[in-house]
Amino acid sequence: MLRYFTAGESHGEALVALLSGMPAGLKVDPGFLDRELWRRQQGYGRGGRMKIERDTAHILSGVRHGATIGSPISILLENRDWKNWQESLPVGDGDPTKHKRVASPRPGHADLAGALKYNFPEARYVLERASARESAARVAIGAIAKLFLRELGMEVLSHVVTVGRVTLSKQVSWETIRTLYDRDEILLNCADSEVEQRMKEEVDEILKTGDSLGGVFEVVAHQVPPGLGTYAQWDERLDAQLAAAVMSLQAVKAVEIGVGVASAFARGSSVHDEIGYGGKSGFTAFSRTHNNAGGIEGGVSNGEEIRVRGYLKPISTLRRPLESVDFSTREPVKAAYERSDVCVVPAAGVAAEAMVALTLARNALEKFGGDSMTESLRNFRGYVQQLKNY
Ligand SMILES: Cc1cc2nc3c(=O)[nH]c(=O)nc-3n(C[C@H](O)[C@H](O)[C@H](O)COP(=O)(O)O)c2cc1C
Repeated sequence: MLRYFTAGESHGEALVALLSGMPAGLKVDPGFLDRELWRRQQGYGRGGRMKIERDTAHILSGVRHGATIGSPISILLENRDWKNWQESLPVGDGDPTKHKRVASPRPGHADLAGALKYNFPEARYVLERASARESAARVAIGAIAKLFLRELGMEVLSHVVTVGRVTLSKQVSWETIRTLYDRDEILLNCADSEVEQRMKEEVDEILKTGDSLGGVFEVVAHQVPPGLGTYAQWDERLDAQLAAAVMSLQAVKAVEIGVGVASAFARGSSVHDEIGYGGKSGFTAFSRTHNNAGGIEGGVSNGEEIRVRGYLKPISTLRRPLESVDFSTREPVKAAYERSDVCVVPAAGVAAEAMVALTLARNALEKFGGDSMTESLRNFRGYVQQLKNY
C-alpha cells in the first residue's frame, strides 16, 4: 500500500517527506523532482520568499543507483531561510527574547483555531505548520508518483482557470496543457495569453490595494485506464479520494469533478456523456460524446481524462490587515502581517497535481500490485490486454 507523510515547519531547518510502498526498480531522475519543485515556486503574485529560495530534493533513502529499491523513500528539502530563524525557532530552550510572536490571529488562517486547540498563548507554532510551505514536501513525493504513473502511460498536469474575477471559460485540451508545462517562465499558467494578461492585471490591482485573491485550477490526468477506484466501498471511490486529496491542500475550499457544479443546475440529457462504439484510440472501443463526468462514474475511472478542479479562497494574510484581537491584551487590533503571497493559484495547481498523482498511484498499486516494476508492469499490461479483448 502506498502511504505518505510530511514533516517540517515553514521556517524550520527543513521539510521531510516519506513515501512508502513504491515498487523496486522505478528510475528516479532528481532533475525531474527539482523541476516540479521549481514549478510550485512560480507564478505572478508570490511573496518575497520564493525569490530567496530555490527548492531542491535531497533524497536520503529508498533510491540507490538511480532507482527505487522498495524501501521507504525519504526526501529532505532544506529551508534556505533557516539561518535567519534558528535563534527564534530553536529545537533546544534557546533565548525566549528571540521568539517571534504572531500576536493577533489572521482571520481565515489557522492561527486562532490552532492556538485554542494546542493551548498556545500566540500563533507562531500554528503558522509554522499550517503554512503551505508544507506543500513543497508533497510535490517532491508527488513527483515520484508521477514517475511511476508515467511508466504506466499516465500523466498529470494542471492549468489555471480563474484568478479573482477573471475566468477562462473554454475547455482546455491536454495538448495545450502539455505545452504550458514546457514553458520556462510561468506567469499564471493560463492556456489563453489574453486571459492570462487580464489575470495579471487582477493581481496588479490587488498588489496596489493590499488585498488578496483566490481562484480556480484544474488538474487533468491523461491516459488513466478504466477501473481505478470502486463503488464497492465508500472510501474506495476514486472521486471521494481525489476530493479529499485536493481539499487537503491549504486554502482549497471546494473540489469539483468534471462539470460537477454546473451539472446540478442542468438537465440529465445535456450532462451525461452518451456512449458509442467503434473508437480506435482508447483503452476500449467504447467512446463518449464529451467528458462532463470528468473521467469518473460510480467512483470508478471510466477511461476518459480525469478532470478535477480546486477552488481557492483568497490568501488570508493581508497587507491591509483585517480586524482581530491581541492574544495578550484581548484588545481590538489589526491582524498580524508577515511577508506573504497574494496569488497562489498556479502553485496550488502544481501541489494538487502531486496529490492527484499520489492518489492515482495508490489506486494503481492497489489494482495492479507488484513489489518490482517488472511485476507491476506485467500486471498492468495484462489488464490493458483484457480491456482490449473485452
Ligand atoms: C501554494 C500556496 C501558498 C500559500 N501562501 C500563503 C501565504 O503566503 N500567506 C497566507 O496567508 N496564506 C497562504 N496560503 C494559504 C494558507 O496556507 C491557508 O489559507 C491556511 O493554511 C489556512 O488553511 P485553510 O485555508 O485551508 O483553512 C497558501 C496556500 C497555497 C496552496
